[in-house]
Amino acid sequence: SHKSRVTVVGSGNWGSVAAKLIASNTLKLGSFHDEVRMWVFEEKLPSGEKLTDVINRTNENVKYLPGIKLGKNVIADPDLENAVKDANMLVFVTPHQFMEGICKGLVGKLHANVEGISLIKGMEVKKEGPQMISALVSKQLGINCCVLMGANIANEIALEKFSEATVGYRENRETADKWVQLFSTPYFMVTAVQDVEGVELCGTLKNVVAIAAGFVDGLDMGNNTKVSVSNKATSVRCMPVFLCLLFYLDCLSYQAAIMRIGLREMRAFSKLLFPSVKDSTFFESCGVADLITTCLGGRNRKVAEAFAKSGGKRSFDELEAEMLQGQKLQGVSTAKEVYEVLTHRGWLELFPLFATVNEICIGSLPPSAIVEYSEHKPKCS
Ligand code: NAD
Ligand code: 13P
Repeated sequence: SHKSRVTVVGSGNWGSVAAKLIASNTLKLGSFHDEVRMWVFEEKLPSGEKLTDVINRTNENVKYLPGIKLGKNVIADPDLENAVKDANMLVFVTPHQFMEGICKGLVGKLHANVEGISLIKGMEVKKEGPQMISALVSKQLGINCCVLMGANIANEIALEKFSEATVGYRENRETADKWVQLFSTPYFMVTAVQDVEGVELCGTLKNVVAIAAGFVDGLDMGNNTKVSVSNKATSVRCMPVFLCLLFYLDCLSYQAAIMRIGLREMRAFSKLLFPSVKDSTFFESCGVADLITTCLGGRNRKVAEAFAKSGGKRSFDELEAEMLQGQKLQGVSTAKEVYEVLTHRGWLELFPLFATVNEICIGSLPPSAIVEYSEHKPKCS
Protein backbone atom coordinates (compact mmCIF):
# COMPACT_ATOMS: atom_id res chain seq x y z
CA SER A 1 0.00 0.00 0.00
CA HIS A 2 1.12 3.63 -0.20
CA LYS A 3 0.65 4.18 3.52
CA SER A 4 3.80 5.11 5.41
CA ARG A 5 5.24 2.80 8.02
CA VAL A 6 7.19 4.28 10.92
CA THR A 7 9.94 2.71 13.01
CA VAL A 8 11.53 4.43 15.99
CA VAL A 9 15.19 3.47 16.39
CA GLY A 10 15.78 3.93 20.11
CA SER A 11 13.73 3.51 23.25
CA GLY A 12 15.29 5.54 26.03
CA ASN A 13 13.53 8.34 27.90
CA TRP A 14 12.90 10.57 24.86
CA GLY A 15 12.73 7.64 22.43
CA SER A 16 9.82 6.16 24.36
CA VAL A 17 7.98 9.48 24.48
CA ALA A 18 8.56 9.98 20.74
CA ALA A 19 7.08 6.53 20.08
CA LYS A 20 4.04 7.44 22.20
CA LEU A 21 3.51 10.76 20.39
CA ILE A 22 3.86 9.18 16.97
CA ALA A 23 1.65 6.21 17.82
CA SER A 24 -1.17 8.50 18.93
CA ASN A 25 -1.00 10.13 15.49
CA THR A 26 -0.64 7.06 13.27
CA LEU A 27 -3.96 5.86 14.76
CA LYS A 28 -5.65 9.08 13.66
CA LEU A 29 -3.99 9.77 10.33
CA GLY A 30 -5.06 7.74 7.30
CA SER A 31 -1.72 8.09 5.56
CA PHE A 32 0.16 6.01 8.12
CA HIS A 33 -0.03 2.37 9.21
CA ASP A 34 -1.22 2.20 12.80
CA GLU A 35 1.64 0.07 14.06
CA VAL A 36 4.83 1.80 15.22
CA ARG A 37 7.86 -0.46 15.67
CA MET A 38 10.31 0.61 18.36
CA TRP A 39 13.79 -0.88 18.33
CA VAL A 40 14.98 -1.70 21.85
CA PHE A 41 18.61 -2.20 22.81
CA GLU A 42 17.83 -5.37 24.72
CA GLU A 43 18.68 -5.68 28.38
CA LYS A 44 17.74 -7.87 31.30
CA LEU A 45 15.83 -6.23 34.12
CA PRO A 46 16.59 -7.06 37.79
CA SER A 47 13.53 -9.35 37.69
CA GLY A 48 15.35 -11.46 35.08
CA GLU A 49 12.85 -10.54 32.37
CA LYS A 50 13.86 -8.94 29.10
CA LEU A 51 12.98 -5.26 28.73
CA THR A 52 11.35 -5.88 25.34
CA ASP A 53 9.04 -8.56 26.76
CA VAL A 54 7.99 -6.29 29.62
CA ILE A 55 7.29 -3.38 27.24
CA ASN A 56 5.15 -5.59 25.03
CA ARG A 57 3.31 -7.12 28.00
CA THR A 58 2.65 -3.95 30.01
CA ASN A 59 2.75 -1.33 27.20
CA GLU A 60 5.20 0.62 29.36
CA ASN A 61 8.94 1.18 29.17
CA VAL A 62 9.33 0.35 32.84
CA LYS A 63 13.01 1.26 32.89
CA TYR A 64 13.25 4.51 30.91
CA LEU A 65 9.70 5.90 31.12
CA PRO A 66 7.89 4.21 34.00
CA GLY A 67 4.23 4.91 34.59
CA ILE A 68 3.38 5.95 31.03
CA LYS A 69 1.38 3.82 28.57
CA LEU A 70 2.93 3.99 25.13
CA GLY A 71 -0.17 3.02 23.16
CA LYS A 72 -1.09 -0.51 22.15
CA ASN A 73 0.15 0.08 18.61
CA VAL A 74 3.75 0.50 19.78
CA ILE A 75 5.56 -2.81 19.30
CA ALA A 76 8.98 -3.22 20.91
CA ASP A 77 11.47 -5.20 18.83
CA PRO A 78 15.01 -6.12 19.94
CA ASP A 79 16.08 -7.08 16.39
CA LEU A 80 17.31 -3.95 14.61
CA GLU A 81 17.17 -5.43 11.13
CA ASN A 82 13.67 -6.77 11.63
CA ALA A 83 12.49 -3.52 13.20
CA VAL A 84 13.40 -1.42 10.14
CA LYS A 85 12.79 -3.85 7.30
CA ASP A 86 9.29 -2.69 6.34
CA ALA A 87 9.58 0.94 7.40
CA ASN A 88 9.86 3.89 5.05
CA MET A 89 10.03 6.50 7.83
CA LEU A 90 12.80 6.08 10.41
CA VAL A 91 13.01 8.13 13.59
CA PHE A 92 16.50 8.02 15.14
CA VAL A 93 16.54 8.73 18.87
CA THR A 94 19.39 7.14 20.83
CA PRO A 95 22.24 8.71 22.78
CA HIS A 96 24.56 10.03 20.05
CA GLN A 97 27.56 7.87 20.94
CA PHE A 98 25.76 4.72 19.78
CA MET A 99 24.73 5.93 16.34
CA GLU A 100 27.85 4.96 14.42
CA GLY A 101 27.45 1.35 15.50
CA ILE A 102 23.72 1.39 14.80
CA CYS A 103 24.25 2.82 11.30
CA LYS A 104 26.82 0.10 10.56
CA GLY A 105 24.18 -2.47 11.47
CA LEU A 106 21.67 -0.85 9.12
CA VAL A 107 23.75 -0.60 5.96
CA GLY A 108 22.03 -2.52 3.20
CA LYS A 109 19.05 -3.41 5.40
CA LEU A 110 16.69 -0.58 4.54
CA HIS A 111 13.63 -0.45 2.35
CA ALA A 112 13.99 1.65 -0.82
CA ASN A 113 12.97 5.33 -0.54
CA VAL A 114 13.38 5.60 3.19
CA GLU A 115 13.20 9.02 4.87
CA GLY A 116 14.92 9.64 8.20
CA ILE A 117 14.68 12.14 11.01
CA SER A 118 17.10 12.52 13.91
CA LEU A 119 16.02 13.62 17.40
CA ILE A 120 19.59 13.10 18.62
CA LYS A 121 21.63 15.88 20.20
CA GLY A 122 25.33 15.45 19.56
CA MET A 123 28.11 15.21 16.98
CA GLU A 124 31.05 13.02 16.03
CA VAL A 125 34.49 14.48 15.43
CA LYS A 126 36.52 12.81 12.68
CA LYS A 127 39.90 13.61 11.18
CA GLU A 128 38.08 15.43 8.39
CA GLY A 129 36.22 17.54 10.94
CA PRO A 130 32.95 17.48 12.87
CA GLN A 131 29.99 15.50 11.60
CA MET A 132 26.46 16.09 12.83
CA ILE A 133 24.41 12.95 13.52
CA SER A 134 21.92 13.61 10.71
CA ALA A 135 24.90 13.84 8.32
CA LEU A 136 26.29 10.56 9.68
CA VAL A 137 22.92 8.90 9.03
CA SER A 138 22.66 10.41 5.55
CA LYS A 139 26.16 9.40 4.61
CA GLN A 140 26.20 5.90 6.08
CA LEU A 141 22.73 4.92 4.93
CA GLY A 142 22.39 7.02 1.80
CA ILE A 143 19.07 8.51 2.92
CA ASN A 144 17.75 12.02 3.41
CA CYS A 145 17.67 12.94 7.11
CA CYS A 146 15.75 15.80 8.73
CA VAL A 147 16.10 16.73 12.41
CA LEU A 148 13.65 17.53 15.20
CA MET A 149 14.87 19.50 18.22
CA GLY A 150 13.18 21.72 20.77
CA ALA A 151 12.50 22.60 24.38
CA ASN A 152 11.42 19.07 25.08
CA ILE A 153 12.04 17.57 28.49
CA ALA A 154 10.77 14.07 27.75
CA ASN A 155 9.09 13.44 31.11
CA GLU A 156 6.98 16.58 30.70
CA ILE A 157 5.83 15.68 27.19
CA ALA A 158 5.02 12.18 28.44
CA LEU A 159 2.48 13.88 30.73
CA GLU A 160 1.14 15.77 27.70
CA LYS A 161 2.28 19.17 28.97
CA PHE A 162 2.46 21.75 26.20
CA SER A 163 5.69 22.30 24.31
CA GLU A 164 7.02 23.29 20.90
CA ALA A 165 9.58 21.76 18.59
CA THR A 166 11.42 22.62 15.39
CA VAL A 167 11.92 20.39 12.37
CA GLY A 168 15.01 21.28 10.33
CA TYR A 169 15.02 20.25 6.68
CA ARG A 170 17.45 20.62 3.82
CA GLU A 171 15.46 20.96 0.60
CA ASN A 172 12.30 18.98 0.48
CA ARG A 173 9.52 20.91 2.20
CA GLU A 174 6.97 18.17 1.48
CA THR A 175 8.95 15.65 3.49
CA ALA A 176 9.37 18.17 6.30
CA ASP A 177 5.60 18.69 6.34
CA LYS A 178 5.08 14.95 6.62
CA TRP A 179 7.29 14.85 9.71
CA VAL A 180 5.47 17.86 11.15
CA GLN A 181 2.18 16.02 10.63
CA LEU A 182 3.52 12.84 12.23
CA PHE A 183 4.71 14.62 15.40
CA SER A 184 2.13 17.37 15.91
CA THR A 185 -0.47 17.08 18.65
CA PRO A 186 -2.44 19.77 20.47
CA TYR A 187 0.24 19.71 23.19
CA PHE A 188 3.23 19.37 20.84
CA MET A 189 3.46 22.19 18.33
CA VAL A 190 5.94 21.63 15.53
CA THR A 191 7.29 24.18 13.03
CA ALA A 192 9.60 23.47 10.08
CA VAL A 193 12.59 25.62 9.12
CA GLN A 194 15.00 25.18 6.22
CA ASP A 195 18.19 24.96 8.28
CA VAL A 196 19.17 21.41 9.28
CA GLU A 197 22.60 22.37 10.60
CA GLY A 198 21.32 25.34 12.59
CA VAL A 199 18.58 23.32 14.28
CA GLU A 200 20.87 20.39 15.03
CA LEU A 201 23.71 22.56 16.33
CA CYS A 202 21.30 24.39 18.65
CA GLY A 203 20.18 21.10 20.19
CA THR A 204 23.72 19.82 20.41
CA LEU A 205 25.51 22.87 21.79
CA LYS A 206 22.96 23.85 24.41
CA ASN A 207 23.94 20.70 26.31
CA VAL A 208 27.41 22.21 26.87
CA VAL A 209 25.84 25.40 28.21
CA ALA A 210 23.61 23.30 30.48
CA ILE A 211 26.72 21.75 32.03
CA ALA A 212 27.99 25.25 32.78
CA ALA A 213 24.62 26.15 34.33
CA GLY A 214 24.84 23.04 36.51
CA PHE A 215 28.34 23.98 37.68
CA VAL A 216 27.07 27.39 38.75
CA ASP A 217 24.24 25.74 40.68
CA GLY A 218 26.65 23.41 42.40
CA LEU A 219 29.20 26.00 43.47
CA ASP A 220 29.12 27.20 47.00
CA MET A 221 28.63 30.87 46.26
CA GLY A 222 26.67 31.85 49.33
CA ASN A 223 23.22 30.53 50.14
CA ASN A 224 21.83 31.12 46.71
CA THR A 225 23.90 30.71 43.60
CA LYS A 226 21.19 32.29 41.51
CA VAL A 227 21.40 35.69 43.24
CA SER A 228 21.64 38.69 41.05
CA VAL A 229 25.03 39.91 40.03
CA SER A 230 24.43 43.25 41.72
CA ASN A 231 24.16 41.46 45.07
CA LYS A 232 27.61 40.18 44.49
CA ALA A 233 29.26 43.57 44.40
CA THR A 234 31.87 42.50 46.87
CA SER A 235 32.88 39.41 45.04
CA VAL A 236 34.30 40.95 41.94
CA ARG A 237 37.16 38.50 42.20
CA CYS A 238 34.74 35.67 41.65
CA MET A 239 33.61 36.95 38.29
CA PRO A 240 34.82 34.98 35.32
CA VAL A 241 36.75 36.85 32.76
CA PHE A 242 33.87 36.59 30.34
CA LEU A 243 31.34 37.88 32.86
CA CYS A 244 33.21 41.10 33.62
CA LEU A 245 30.93 43.36 31.68
CA LEU A 246 27.84 41.87 33.21
CA PHE A 247 29.07 42.83 36.65
CA TYR A 248 27.83 46.32 35.99
CA LEU A 249 24.33 45.25 35.14
CA ASP A 250 21.54 44.90 37.65
CA CYS A 251 19.39 41.86 38.32
CA LEU A 252 21.12 39.40 36.07
CA SER A 253 21.67 36.08 37.66
CA TYR A 254 24.74 34.06 36.91
CA GLN A 255 22.41 31.64 35.22
CA ALA A 256 21.07 34.26 32.87
CA ALA A 257 24.62 35.35 32.13
CA ILE A 258 25.67 31.79 31.38
CA MET A 259 22.68 31.37 29.08
CA ARG A 260 23.33 34.62 27.25
CA ILE A 261 27.01 33.96 26.74
CA GLY A 262 26.24 30.37 25.86
CA LEU A 263 23.74 31.44 23.23
CA ARG A 264 26.29 33.77 21.66
CA GLU A 265 28.89 31.03 21.54
CA MET A 266 26.30 28.62 20.10
CA ARG A 267 25.51 31.03 17.31
CA ALA A 268 29.12 31.96 16.60
CA PHE A 269 30.28 28.32 16.55
CA SER A 270 27.39 27.21 14.34
CA LYS A 271 28.02 29.96 11.81
CA LEU A 272 31.75 29.34 11.70
CA LEU A 273 31.11 25.68 10.96
CA PHE A 274 28.20 26.23 8.57
CA PRO A 275 27.90 29.74 7.12
CA SER A 276 24.40 28.84 5.90
CA VAL A 277 23.07 28.73 9.49
CA LYS A 278 20.35 31.34 9.98
CA ASP A 279 20.07 33.77 12.91
CA SER A 280 16.31 33.22 12.99
CA THR A 281 16.83 29.55 13.93
CA PHE A 282 18.12 30.63 17.35
CA PHE A 283 14.70 32.16 18.08
CA GLU A 284 12.86 28.92 17.32
CA SER A 285 12.04 26.35 20.00
CA CYS A 286 15.28 24.50 19.18
CA GLY A 287 17.30 27.62 20.08
CA VAL A 288 16.66 29.89 23.00
CA ALA A 289 13.71 27.88 24.36
CA ASP A 290 15.60 24.59 24.54
CA LEU A 291 18.59 26.38 26.05
CA ILE A 292 16.46 27.79 28.86
CA THR A 293 14.56 24.60 29.64
CA THR A 294 17.71 22.47 29.68
CA CYS A 295 19.65 24.94 31.83
CA LEU A 296 16.78 24.95 34.32
CA GLY A 297 15.49 21.40 34.30
CA GLY A 298 17.66 19.01 32.32
CA ARG A 299 19.77 15.99 33.21
CA ASN A 300 23.02 17.64 32.08
CA ARG A 301 22.38 20.49 34.51
CA LYS A 302 21.50 18.13 37.33
CA VAL A 303 24.57 15.91 37.05
CA ALA A 304 26.89 18.89 36.52
CA GLU A 305 25.54 20.38 39.76
CA ALA A 306 26.43 17.19 41.63
CA PHE A 307 29.88 17.19 39.99
CA ALA A 308 30.55 20.76 41.17
CA LYS A 309 29.21 19.96 44.65
CA SER A 310 31.75 17.16 44.89
CA GLY A 311 34.45 19.71 44.00
CA GLY A 312 35.14 17.72 40.84
CA LYS A 313 36.20 14.71 42.94
CA ARG A 314 33.51 12.36 41.63
CA SER A 315 33.55 11.47 37.95
CA PHE A 316 30.75 12.24 35.55
CA ASP A 317 30.53 8.55 34.62
CA GLU A 318 30.01 7.57 38.23
CA LEU A 319 27.44 10.33 38.84
CA GLU A 320 25.59 9.53 35.62
CA ALA A 321 25.28 5.87 36.55
CA GLU A 322 24.13 6.73 40.08
CA MET A 323 21.71 9.54 39.24
CA LEU A 324 20.23 8.63 35.87
CA GLN A 325 19.50 4.87 36.07
CA GLY A 326 20.75 4.03 32.60
CA GLN A 327 19.85 7.31 30.91
CA LYS A 328 22.76 9.06 29.24
CA LEU A 329 24.29 12.53 29.34
CA GLN A 330 25.26 14.16 26.07
CA GLY A 331 26.83 17.40 27.29
CA VAL A 332 30.12 16.09 28.65
CA SER A 333 31.10 14.26 25.47
CA THR A 334 29.80 17.14 23.36
CA ALA A 335 32.02 19.56 25.31
CA LYS A 336 34.98 17.32 24.47
CA GLU A 337 33.99 17.07 20.82
CA VAL A 338 33.55 20.84 20.57
CA TYR A 339 36.93 21.34 22.26
CA GLU A 340 38.63 19.15 19.67
CA VAL A 341 37.16 21.31 16.93
CA LEU A 342 38.22 24.51 18.73
CA THR A 343 41.76 23.17 19.16
CA HIS A 344 42.13 22.00 15.56
CA ARG A 345 40.84 25.24 14.12
CA GLY A 346 42.61 27.60 16.51
CA TRP A 347 39.34 28.96 17.91
CA LEU A 348 39.88 28.28 21.63
CA GLU A 349 40.14 31.95 22.56
CA LEU A 350 36.90 32.76 20.81
CA PHE A 351 34.87 30.34 22.94
CA PRO A 352 35.85 30.75 26.61
CA LEU A 353 32.63 29.22 27.95
CA PHE A 354 32.74 26.09 25.77
CA ALA A 355 36.48 25.66 26.43
CA THR A 356 36.16 26.13 30.20
CA VAL A 357 33.33 23.59 30.44
CA ASN A 358 35.49 20.90 28.86
CA GLU A 359 38.52 21.80 30.95
CA ILE A 360 36.41 21.43 34.10
CA CYS A 361 34.87 18.15 32.92
CA ILE A 362 38.29 16.60 32.27
CA GLY A 363 39.68 17.86 35.58
CA SER A 364 42.24 20.37 34.30
CA LEU A 365 40.31 23.19 35.98
CA PRO A 366 38.24 23.14 39.18
CA PRO A 367 34.44 23.68 38.89
CA SER A 368 34.89 27.16 40.35
CA ALA A 369 36.74 28.14 37.17
CA ILE A 370 33.35 28.68 35.58
CA VAL A 371 33.05 31.89 37.61
CA GLU A 372 36.62 32.60 38.66
CA TYR A 373 38.29 35.86 37.84
CA SER A 374 41.82 35.17 36.79
CA GLU A 375 44.40 37.76 37.76
CA HIS A 376 46.59 36.46 34.99
CA LYS A 377 44.15 37.40 32.31
CA PRO A 378 43.73 40.99 31.21
CA LYS A 379 40.80 42.78 32.78
CA CYS A 380 38.08 43.34 30.27
CA SER A 381 36.49 46.48 31.66
P1 NAD B 1 18.43 7.94 27.34
O1 NAD B 1 19.24 9.05 27.87
O2 NAD B 1 17.25 7.52 28.12
O3 NAD B 1 19.44 6.71 27.14
C1 NAD B 1 19.11 5.39 27.40
C2 NAD B 1 18.99 4.61 26.12
O4 NAD B 1 20.29 4.26 25.60
C3 NAD B 1 18.26 3.30 26.35
O5 NAD B 1 17.31 3.07 25.34
C4 NAD B 1 19.38 2.29 26.27
O6 NAD B 1 18.93 1.02 25.83
C5 NAD B 1 20.26 2.91 25.23
N1 NAD B 1 21.57 2.31 25.19
C6 NAD B 1 22.41 2.08 26.24
N2 NAD B 1 23.53 1.46 25.80
C7 NAD B 1 23.38 1.31 24.46
C8 NAD B 1 24.21 0.76 23.43
N3 NAD B 1 25.41 0.25 23.71
N4 NAD B 1 23.75 0.78 22.16
C9 NAD B 1 22.57 1.33 21.87
N5 NAD B 1 21.74 1.85 22.79
C10 NAD B 1 22.16 1.84 24.06
O7 NAD B 1 17.99 8.26 25.83
P2 NAD B 1 16.97 9.41 25.35
O8 NAD B 1 16.52 10.25 26.49
O9 NAD B 1 15.94 8.75 24.52
O10 NAD B 1 17.91 10.35 24.46
C11 NAD B 1 18.19 10.10 23.10
C12 NAD B 1 18.61 11.41 22.43
O11 NAD B 1 17.53 12.34 22.54
C13 NAD B 1 19.83 12.09 23.07
O12 NAD B 1 20.64 12.64 22.08
C14 NAD B 1 19.21 13.20 23.90
O13 NAD B 1 20.05 14.32 24.04
C15 NAD B 1 17.99 13.56 23.08
N6 NAD B 1 16.91 14.20 23.84
C16 NAD B 1 16.54 13.76 25.08
C17 NAD B 1 15.51 14.39 25.77
C18 NAD B 1 15.06 13.95 27.14
O14 NAD B 1 14.41 14.74 27.84
N7 NAD B 1 15.36 12.74 27.56
C19 NAD B 1 14.83 15.44 25.17
C20 NAD B 1 15.20 15.86 23.90
C21 NAD B 1 16.26 15.23 23.25
P1 13P C 1 19.00 16.84 29.14
O1 13P C 1 19.60 15.69 28.35
O2 13P C 1 19.99 17.72 29.78
O3 13P C 1 17.95 16.35 30.12
O4 13P C 1 18.22 17.75 28.08
C1 13P C 1 17.05 17.27 27.53
C2 13P C 1 16.69 18.05 26.32
O5 13P C 1 17.38 17.97 25.32
C3 13P C 1 15.49 18.91 26.38
O6 13P C 1 15.14 19.41 25.14
